[in-house]
Amino acid sequence: MIFTPTKYQLQTVATGRVFNDEGWTLDDKQCDKPSMVRPIYEKKQLDVKKEACLGLYRYADWLPIKTMLKNPSEPITYKSEGLANHLGLNNLYITFNGWWPERKARMTTCSFKEMEAYSVCARLGDEQKNQMLVVASAGNTARAFAKVCSDNGIKLLLCVPQDNINALWFDKPLNPCVNLITTESGSDYFDAINLSNVVCEMDGYLAEGGAKNIARRDGMSTTMMSATTFIGRTPDFYFQAVGSGTGAIAAWEANLRFIGDGRFGTNKARLMVSQNKPFVPMYDAWRADSRAMLPYEAEQARKDAAEICAPVLSNRKPPYGLAGGLYDALKDTNGDIFAVSNDEANAAKALFEETEGIDIYHAAAVATASLQQAVEKGMVKADDVVMLNITGGGEKRFHAEHELYYLKPDHIFKIDFTKEEVERVLAEMR
Ligand SMILES: Cc1ncc(COP(=O)(O)O)c(C=O)c1O
Repeated sequence: MIFTPTKYQLQTVATGRVFNDEGWTLDDKQCDKPSMVRPIYEKKQLDVKKEACLGLYRYADWLPIKTMLKNPSEPITYKSEGLANHLGLNNLYITFNGWWPERKARMTTCSFKEMEAYSVCARLGDEQKNQMLVVASAGNTARAFAKVCSDNGIKLLLCVPQDNINALWFDKPLNPCVNLITTESGSDYFDAINLSNVVCEMDGYLAEGGAKNIARRDGMSTTMMSATTFIGRTPDFYFQAVGSGTGAIAAWEANLRFIGDGRFGTNKARLMVSQNKPFVPMYDAWRADSRAMLPYEAEQARKDAAEICAPVLSNRKPPYGLAGGLYDALKDTNGDIFAVSNDEANAAKALFEETEGIDIYHAAAVATASLQQAVEKGMVKADDVVMLNITGGGEKRFHAEHELYYLKPDHIFKIDFTKEEVERVLAEMR
């Protein structure tokens, strides 16, 4: 199939300035305030392609990509019966990201981070492909990028905390174009981000960009595109567990595009996001009605991150306060943040499996528990149209059905690594 990339320009949220994407633009250099930039797609009406083999590229009209990669998957949405009955909801829609072949969910890395990876890697042009893409992750993002880059021969360097490397399982051995460096045991996601920042200052390495990469957000927005096109309108509520909040920001941005599309109503889904106690820095800032994150001492943050059952939700520097970040998204949609304990998440995980028939990740269970809280508090009513983003699931099932291969680190760095050491190690690896 001949692919013609969709046309778009970038817009700075803080100032409204519209300008061209130079290929891998992450920021507006003319803007002196912290701000997201967003793509403004030429096609205002989304034409979802019919071919199932295209996976998430069926939504290519609203993806900033130059190509389509091999083996793409996509989120699926269905109307819940089991969990919906249990909660007394008449319009609960579940968007499932993961492995559930009977429902045509075929993400072999079992989380919605696969959507980021397929979109970000398809944004790479020839100029970027000469460099090595650098991705820092607490686990699921790393697995997703590793799979997509391995299948498509894209050079990748992963930076992951050593304690999370058991998340790097695959159903086949990886192409050697994928490399892994870690920060020692006891370190967290933030330490891995620090390591990746040092790497990205060196020649030949390309910062993936995190939440500021439009392809990352729009890849994740395929969850909202799946739900809205399935339901026929944008939902009243959107539930998701957050670490960075990127997925929720992406859902909000897609919602705004759907309003512009004109065929799916004018409703803005209220973003109901959740964090895992005791690691709840965005919850704390939101409760204090603060755009700025509150002080969070590094040692305490590492300790809290080690306690939560969903470690993928432990991001200490989320894109919360910048223009177009999570704070703005919550204000604009009359949203809220919930805090969920490990016990509540474990109970919700068991409840989901019992009522829907598939295992889910703890992060997705945090979102499910927050929906329970919202129903109990009367925030969500029986007839409201609710989208529950199950950001990862089916791993138990996938593991039972496949032989697994684990990625081993090429080097383990101490938390107090030096730039010289990083340069030396990477030179030896190349
Ligand atoms: C399964 C799962 N759910 C939710 C999240 C949180 O996503 P975000 O960082 O976009 O808030 C993550 C992050 O890694 C994840 O892996």
